[in-house]
Amino acid sequence: MCGIVGAVAQRNIVSVLIEGLRRLEYRGYDSCGVAVLAGGEPHRARSVSRVADLDAQVGEARLEGVTGIAHTRWATHGAPVTDNAHPIFSRDAVALVHNGIIENFESLREVLRGKGYEFVTQTDTEVIAHLIHSLYRGSLYDAVCEAVKQLHGAYAIAVVHKNEPNTVVGARQGSPLVVGLGAGENFLASDALALAGSTERFVFLEEGDVTELTLGGVRIRDREGRDAEREVRTVHAYGGAVELGPYRHFMQKEIFEQPRAIADTVPQTDTFDAPLFGDAAEAAFREIDSLLILACGTSHYSGLTAKYWLESIAKIPTQVEIASEYRYRDSVPNPKALVVVISQSGETADTLAALKHAQKLGHRHTLSICNVSTSAMVRLTEMAFLTRAGQEIGVASTKAFTTQLVALFSLAVTLGKLRGHVDAAAEADYVKHLRHLPAALNSVLALEPQIIAWSEEFSRKENALFLGRGMHYPIALEGALKLKEISYIHAEAYPAGELKHGPLALVTEAMPVVTVAPNDALLEKLKSNIQEVRARGGQLYVFADADTRIVNGEGIHVIRMPEHYGMLSPILHVVPLQLLAYHTACARGTDVDKPRNLAKSVTVE
Ligand code: G6P
Repeated sequence: MCGIVGAVAQRNIVSVLIEGLRRLEYRGYDSCGVAVLAGGEPHRARSVSRVADLDAQVGEARLEGVTGIAHTRWATHGAPVTDNAHPIFSRDAVALVHNGIIENFESLREVLRGKGYEFVTQTDTEVIAHLIHSLYRGSLYDAVCEAVKQLHGAYAIAVVHKNEPNTVVGARQGSPLVVGLGAGENFLASDALALAGSTERFVFLEEGDVTELTLGGVRIRDREGRDAEREVRTVHAYGGAVELGPYRHFMQKEIFEQPRAIADTVPQTDTFDAPLFGDAAEAAFREIDSLLILACGTSHYSGLTAKYWLESIAKIPTQVEIASEYRYRDSVPNPKALVVVISQSGETADTLAALKHAQKLGHRHTLSICNVSTSAMVRLTEMAFLTRAGQEIGVASTKAFTTQLVALFSLAVTLGKLRGHVDAAAEADYVKHLRHLPAALNSVLALEPQIIAWSEEFSRKENALFLGRGMHYPIALEGALKLKEISYIHAEAYPAGELKHGPLALVTEAMPVVTVAPNDALLEKLKSNIQEVRARGGQLYVFADADTRIVNGEGIHVIRMPEHYGMLSPILHVVPLQLLAYHTACARGTDVDKPRNLAKSVTVE
């Protein structure tokens, strides 16, 4: 999704800006640009290609400056063409970059047109540039403070003015923006990661903040226009460059990092108690009578899987809802429900908005399960459990998903114990199985060569069905999502029992049907579903536990999972589906880490 970088220094900052964009590239974008102030006016370069192309342009044009802003754009208003790429100018005086959406841009555009401003882009961003220009009376900081009062929507901006050659002004409302503090130089970015290498000292701006960066320091005003102090935080975590190592893609690397990521995420304590989820959890967990899980995408599927654990192990009623649906419907709030938001990034706009909506409805107890400790979501919730997946670059989430499952399973055991449904022996058993997961996962990863063989056939298909039952139904959903995201093969998942109620009509010899077949209570039912597919000539690709006695045969291809893993089986069964999607996409030659039209962290509604 869109990224912002800004800098004011006493050296040429173009390389800082380009490097910042490179670090944000993995999030997905369709155009990019950079502008610097030089010789009393803004100069820019923009590209509808990659940041590497922008870098080459900047080199050819010898673009240099001590103050500048840069952007990766993921188109919302207006096609991904050069004219719509940021920075956007107003009358060659103001240059601006923007993440998010301005909802009232049409009415603002009419007012600004009335004042003689000409619009040359299809973006909503252009109104902000002209608005700031129209309000400029000698102080960019004041003009931005005035302008944001008129903006409705979610945004983060960075802006420069030709009359202030050593100033960058930023503002945020609903989209993240951080200030990076240097010695005699200061930076701005939509993610601290973009500034790794430039500084480790950050100020995380709050909703409604406007900030002015100069060589000498940083000023901040809150949404009421009062001068504000914000905590300076040191974050080392971003220091290490993200290297691909021996892998072909980040997605592959991240799939193979899962044993390590899971080992780091499993709580190190021998018993699972409320404080694992934060100081407030002890009291909160005693008060709650149900759970409401809100999330998007892959994180939503981890919530769906967890429902089975929470209701089975902790016997606590659990509702799981897509964040963007929950926030816009009339729901019946239950102040005794624990609201759990699940998010890799902690910045997903829909999930953040759903959380705020729940809080507005009176939900007091909120817990985030998140991979980024400094994210807005972690800051907004009463309690937090951090997954330790490490930075995830591939747009298609893998290690974030399995570590979320570990977190949610730990939550189920903790709540089960607190509610008297998990005794000491059962707890010890769960802990033992969690600790053994990394080893079990390594055996699953060793199946890669067999999966590569299947992926050759899949790469020639245009459709696929995924079947699962019980807690493996969400795993089938996740497998189908992975395949469609990165290989562009149309894939749908069904609970296997639903097959006969519709999707069976699609089954022919051309339709591969992937089946998740653990050796659980539903196995016999699943075997009947397999027969239903075979009888229609469908090609079955079954991931079966060792002792299921489902064997290779005419139209049935079986890969045996190394061991049956009881309640934790979904964490193992999702891994071959990740590998299948990955190798199918490789065989089709798609851009695995940056699939078309998708973004890593979706910070717009
Ligand atoms: C985007 C990503 C998905 C991710 C979803 C939720 O759509 O492409 O991989 O699952 O956002 O993101 P979150 O950061 O909230 O987990």
